[in-house]
Amino acid sequence: MTQDELKTMVAKAALEYIPQNAVLGVGSGSTVMKFIEQIGINKVAVKAAVSSSNKTTAALEAIGVNVVDPNKTEPYEVYIDGADEVDPNFNMIKGGGACLTREKILTSMAQKFICIVDKSKLVETLGKFPLPVEVIPMAREQVARTLRTLGGDPVLRKDCITDNGCEILDVHGLHITDPVALEQKINQIPGVVTVGLFATKGADIVLYATEEGVKVLKRN
Ligand code: A5P
Repeated sequence: MTQDELKTMVAKAALEYIPQNAVLGVGSGSTVMKFIEQIGINKVAVKAAVSSSNKTTAALEAIGVNVVDPNKTEPYEVYIDGADEVDPNFNMIKGGGACLTREKILTSMAQKFICIVDKSKLVETLGKFPLPVEVIPMAREQVARTLRTLGGDPVLRKDCITDNGCEILDVHGLHITDPVALEQKINQIPGVVTVGLFATKGADIVLYATEEGVKVLKRN
C-alpha cells in the first residue's frame, strides 16, 4: 500500500468524527486535502467550517462548505488535522505545510483534536522531523541565534512566506524529550509567532492508517 493510499484510508475514517449541526475545524496538508475530498465524494453534511489555511479554505469552498471567520465563531467541538510527527503521549510536530499558527489558533478553540496520519508519522521521540518555527522576518537571525543555544540547527525555509506574511525556520537536530517545556521556551523568544510543537495542547484522538486498517488511539 502506498503512503497516498494510507492517507486516503485515514481520511475516510475521519468522516465519522464530523459533528452534526456544528462548526468543524479543518487543518491543512495533504492528508487533510484527502479528508476534504472524502467529504465531497461521500456528500457528508458540514454545517460550517473554520479553516487553518487559504488552501484549505479554497478546497472547502470548492465542495460547497461554508467557511466562517473564527472571530465570529464560539469555541467548537472537533478539529481534524494531520501531523508531521506524533509521539506516544500525543504530542505532535506540525507545520510542514507552513500553516502552524492558524492550526494552533484553531486547536486552542477546539474541545477535541483528532489527528489523522499514516503510520510513518508515529515516533518514539519528536525531533527527527525538523521543528518549524514561524518568525517575524526582522527577528529571524536573533531567533536563530537563540534556537542554536537550545541545541538546534535552524535553517530558513526557502521561498516560503506564510499566510501571515512571516518566515519559517526549520530547526534540525533536536531530540525533544520534554515537548511542553520546549514549546513554552521557544514561544517566549521575541519574534517567534508560533512554534510547531503541539504539546501543551496535543491530540485527543489519533487515527493512524496501517496496511491492516485504521487504528485508533485515545488519550485517557
Ligand atoms: C501543515 O502546516 C501541517 O501541520 C500538516 O498538518 C502536516 O505537515 C502534515 O501534513 P501531511 O498531511 O501533508 O503529511
